[in-house]
Amino acid sequence: MTQEHFDRTIDRDQRIEPRDWMPDAYRTTMVRQIAQHAHSEIIGMQPEGEWITRAPSLRRKAILLAKVQDEAGHGLYLYSAAETLGADRTGLTEKLISGRQKYSSIFNYPTLSFADVGVIGWLVDGAAICNQVPLCRSSYGPYARAMIRICKEESFHQRQGYELLMALMRGTDAQREMVQDSVNRWWWPSLMMFGPPDADSTHTAQSMAWKIKRHTNDELRQRFVDMTVPQAEALGVTLPDPDLRWNADRGHHDFGEIDWSELKRVISGDGPCNAERIDVRRTAHEDGAWVREAAAAHAAKQTAAPSS
Ligand code: ACO
Repeated sequence: MTQEHFDRTIDRDQRIEPRDWMPDAYRTTMVRQIAQHAHSEIIGMQPEGEWITRAPSLRRKAILLAKVQDEAGHGLYLYSAAETLGADRTGLTEKLISGRQKYSSIFNYPTLSFADVGVIGWLVDGAAICNQVPLCRSSYGPYARAMIRICKEESFHQRQGYELLMALMRGTDAQREMVQDSVNRWWWPSLMMFGPPDADSTHTAQSMAWKIKRHTNDELRQRFVDMTVPQAEALGVTLPDPDLRWNADRGHHDFGEIDWSELKRVISGDGPCNAERIDVRRTAHEDGAWVREAAAAHAAKQTAAPSS
């Protein structure tokens, strides 16, 4: 039950399960990707969470609150999936707050208006769905199964974002300008979510061979652009890229050059909100120490108690 079984499972498009033998490098890659994904969900609660107290109506507040709670749930399923590989949840959080593990670049940008809540739903969650639907067929069972539920909830998030933007676009000129300003700020960072171009991607080739990833970064980015252009037209906003146009020969939209130096800067910790995001997470973790201690003490008492 070693390499041969692993290779056959991957070849047959079946799932690797926690108790199966797997190469150390596969385990390391899975822990890295799942942990980064979990951290992204948890850090991703912050930019929109800031608007819960300022939502313009009770209905919008209830929707936003539910959405941010969903992100927490996604983070928790994903930490559980990482635990099935032998990772320790506290250890993962410590790696996040000490900068030894990454989270998505997108959550290092500020949310300046309520339109950003809609645009994050539409573009950021739209990009997340594009990236994550193929991960429902990822080769590691617990990750693939977590993705199914996460994608269903992400679809609701995307639709609520689009609906919010439609409401704003039916409003005043000032509201329409607010939406356009938000689209201008989030479009390029959304394209960067898919990672570096294939030629510079460290892990894609191996992750595709192991069927962890089913498409390359550039393939998914192109799919996202093609999917989003008609949605932008229906909404009545302009995507801020003068080079964006349909290419009939390719059967896809061409788009302008992404500023890869910006992605590198944000990934390496120097984005507009990196320090703030990690500070908030660190404080929450430290403030929660007494809860973890109390839970551990309670569990120890339960174990020590004589059974009746
Ligand atoms: N933000 C931060 N780091 C990134 C990003 C990004 N947008 N894109 C790539 N990176 C990192 C990779 O994690 C990797 O770093 P590491 O070697 O230190 O671990 C490095 O840049 C090189 O990139 P790749 O070789 O292309 O990495 P990979 O094959 O893992 O592909 C991708 C990156 C596409 C993000 C992949 O990991 C993935 O699909 N992850 C699952 C989805 C996910 O994490 N989504 C989070 C945001 S969505 C949301 O939460 C709403």
